[in-house]
Amino acid sequence: MKVIHTISEMQQYSKEQHKAGKVVGIVPTMGYLHDGHLSLVDTARANGATVVVVTIFVNPIQFAPNEDFEKYPRDLQRDCALLEAKNVDAVFAPSVKEMYGEEPTCFVVENKLSKGLCAKTRPTHFQGVTTVVAKLFNAVLPDIAVFGQKDAQQARVLKRMVRDLNFPIQLVISPLIREKDGLALSSRNKYLSPEERKNALVLSRSLKEAQETLEKDGMSIPAILDSIKGKIASSGGKVDYVECVDAETLEDVRSRTGKEIMFVLAAYFGNTRLIDNVLFKY
Ligand code: PAF
Repeated sequence: MKVIHTISEMQQYSKEQHKAGKVVGIVPTMGYLHDGHLSLVDTARANGATVVVVTIFVNPIQFAPNEDFEKYPRDLQRDCALLEAKNVDAVFAPSVKEMYGEEPTCFVVENKLSKGLCAKTRPTHFQGVTTVVAKLFNAVLPDIAVFGQKDAQQARVLKRMVRDLNFPIQLVISPLIREKDGLALSSRNKYLSPEERKNALVLSRSLKEAQETLEKDGMSIPAILDSIKGKIASSGGKVDYVECVDAETLEDVRSRTGKEIMFVLAAYFGNTRLIDNVLFKY
């Protein structure tokens, strides 16, 4: 497995792969990998990637000053061992200086899907994500890009970016992966105390119950949203948002659409902000 740190070497590697007729898949990550990330590698291959490049970069511009950029967990050696075992072809792990060294004044902004949900408490987050992902695309030159359903809003924003800016890339959204007890896999789960982790199980549990209730038309959507909020609060969580939205447009859903919809939420357990969602047709 090749470990590449510079954009020029990355582009060179990718051009060689294309010349050899390979289909290059990119799996962008911030490292500290878990099974959710590793499943994205499988999704890239299942969608035709014959070379998989995993990028590992903790992107400073998607963190607000009060957020966890400094303490975000990092372990490149461990990540590389996991990816090597997964037969990943290359890791692109640039430094902050390599990515942003020239004091950039150009950014990529999505103006609709990136405004609600997580953006209400993280207003600068998605501009950081779209900008870095555009830069990673230009470094890795992929044919296929895989993002997780865990970050449901991010995946839709990036899909829109690919569409609107004509990136010649097939964007694939890979299913959310959970622990056996239901907790959505996240590098940030590491911050949770045992007590907080136990309390946080309310998220997946209440989303599952919400889906079941809606599927049997047992309650209106606003009543279900209130019920999820109540369950989170009584388990010691602090609700950031709980919404029911169209899975493509992220617009509020209040009645049956016949399309894919999602219950999406964010909540704090202690100082840790967790997100989760459930996606189904309704
Ligand atoms: O989902 C993530 O880990 C990050 O937001 C991404 C897509 C790698 C951009 O930094």
